[in-house]
Amino acid sequence: MISETLQKARDFEEQYGPHIPAGERPAFHVTPIIGWMNDPNGFSFYKGEYHLFYQYHPYSNEWGPMHWGHVKTKDFIRWERLPAALAPDTEYDSAGCFSGGATELPDGRQLLMYTGVRREHDEDGYLRDIQTQCVAIGDGVDYEKYEANPVLTGKDLPEGGSIVDFRDPKVWRGEDGAYYAVLGNRAADNSGMILLYRSGDALHWEFVRILDASGNQYGKMWECPDFFELSGEQVLITSPQEMIPVGLEFHAGYGAIALIGEYDPAGEGFVRKRVQSIDYGLDFYAPQTLLAPDGRRIMIAWMQNWSTAGAKPDRCRWFGQTIVPRELSVKNGRLYQVPVRELEHYRGQAVVHRNIPVSGEVNLPGVNGRLVDMTVTIRRAGYDSCRWFRIHVAKDGEHDTVIRYRPDQGTLKIDRTRSGLPYDVVHTRSFLVRPLDNGELKLRILLDRFSVEVFVNDGEQAASTVIYTRKEADAISFEAGGAALMDVEKYELVFDRD
Ligand code: FRU
Repeated sequence: MISETLQKARDFEEQYGPHIPAGERPAFHVTPIIGWMNDPNGFSFYKGEYHLFYQYHPYSNEWGPMHWGHVKTKDFIRWERLPAALAPDTEYDSAGCFSGGATELPDGRQLLMYTGVRREHDEDGYLRDIQTQCVAIGDGVDYEKYEANPVLTGKDLPEGGSIVDFRDPKVWRGEDGAYYAVLGNRAADNSGMILLYRSGDALHWEFVRILDASGNQYGKMWECPDFFELSGEQVLITSPQEMIPVGLEFHAGYGAIALIGEYDPAGEGFVRKRVQSIDYGLDFYAPQTLLAPDGRRIMIAWMQNWSTAGAKPDRCRWFGQTIVPRELSVKNGRLYQVPVRELEHYRGQAVVHRNIPVSGEVNLPGVNGRLVDMTVTIRRAGYDSCRWFRIHVAKDGEHDTVIRYRPDQGTLKIDRTRSGLPYDVVHTRSFLVRPLDNGELKLRILLDRFSVEVFVNDGEQAASTVIYTRKEADAISFEAGGAALMDVEKYELVFDRD
C-alpha cells in the first residue's frame, strides 16, 4: 500500500522533476530529481542492478521531513530514476525516515533498514528526537513498512547509549547467513560510538557489542557507519560531527574518517590500528559502500558538507549530489580510492602531451572542457627548481578553480574562491601529499558541471569539491613558479553516444 504522503511525493516529483533541463544538472553525478538530497542510503546490488536511495526532501531545496529518493544503475555512471521509496507516514517515523542500508532476503525481496524519527517533549519541555530502527520490504520499486516496526529501540541500547542519537543502520548479510547492522550512537561521554547488532531474519535484532568509540578524540556524534573487510584488513568508516582540527589531516567540523584495523568476532572485536580522513576536499560526507558481485568494494558519498550546504545558487530546484562511486582498496596501510572503471567507457579521444615545460602559464591545444577526465603528472625540471605548480580549471575571465601543488611544503591546495559560490563559506582546503618514489606527483581530475574531484597518486588520496561556475567557463591552464615538466592525458567525457 502506497500511503498518501508517499503518493504526494511521487506525484510532486513526476510533475515538477522533468522541468529541470538536463544541462543544468551534473552529467554523471546523482542529484535528486527535484528538491534536496543528503546522505546516500541503501547502496546495494539487487536483481542485477545497483540501487541507490538517498535522504530526500522533494518539496524545497532545504532539508525537511526526510523521504528516501531512489535511483538505479548498471554501471554507476548513468542512473535511472525511480519513484520515491519511503515517506515519513507513520507515528514512529513522523519526523523523518533517516539514513540506512539495504540487503536482500532469501526469498528475493529487498529489505531497507532505516532510522525512524519522531519528536517528543522531554521532562523540561525541550523537544527532542526519539530515534529507532525500522524496516521496509519490497521489490525494488515499492516497499511496505513492517507491521512490527520499530525493530530496535531504546531497550536495545548498551548502557550509557542515547535514544536521541541512535541512527543510520548499515545492514549486510554475513557469510554465516546471519544479518548484521552497524549503527551510530552517542555514548555517556557525549561522543560517538558504533554499535553492532545481529539478526537471523533481519527483523529480530540483538545487540552484539560496541565496535569502537570516539572517546572525544575524533569528534562528537558518529554518523553513518559502515564496516567491512578489505584487502585483508578491517575498515570501519564513520562521519563524525564536531571534529577538532589536527594538522592538515582532519579539518574542523563534519569529517569522514576511516579506522583501519583487525577484527576478531569471537575475541576482542575490532582493534583500531590507524585513522585517516577519507577525502581531503571541501565537500564530502556520509560515505556508504556496497560489495559488487565481482568482488569490488565500491563507495559512494554525499558531495557536500553540512557546514557549506546552506550556500547554494539562488532559487535552485535541486540541491545535493553524490561523488562518482569509487573502488576501494587498502595499500600501505591506507585507504585507496579510484573512480569506478566504468567511467572509462565514456572517454572520448585521448589528448596527450608529454614532457611539456611549464614556466609561467601554459595552455595546451585540446585541453579544455567541463566534462573531463584528465591526468596531470608533474615533475621538477631541475633540482629544486619548481616552487609551486597550479592547475586552473573551470576558468574564464571571472571564474577559476585552482589546484595548487607546493613541492617544498608537500601540500596540495584546492581553491574554489572564484567558482560561483558568492557566500562567505570555506573555499580553500590544503592537505599533505607525498610524491611517488620517482619524485613525480600524479593528479587525476574529474570535472563535471558542478564539481571537481581530484585523485592523488593512483588513489592514495581523494579530494572532492562542489563548484557552481557557469558552464561556459571551460578553460584549463597550467602554471609554475620556477620550472616544471608535465605530462597531460585528457579525455572529454561523452554521454550521448548510444
Ligand atoms: C548525516 C545525517 C544522518 C541522518 C541524516 C538525516 O548527514 O545527519 O545521521 O540519518 O543525515 O537526514
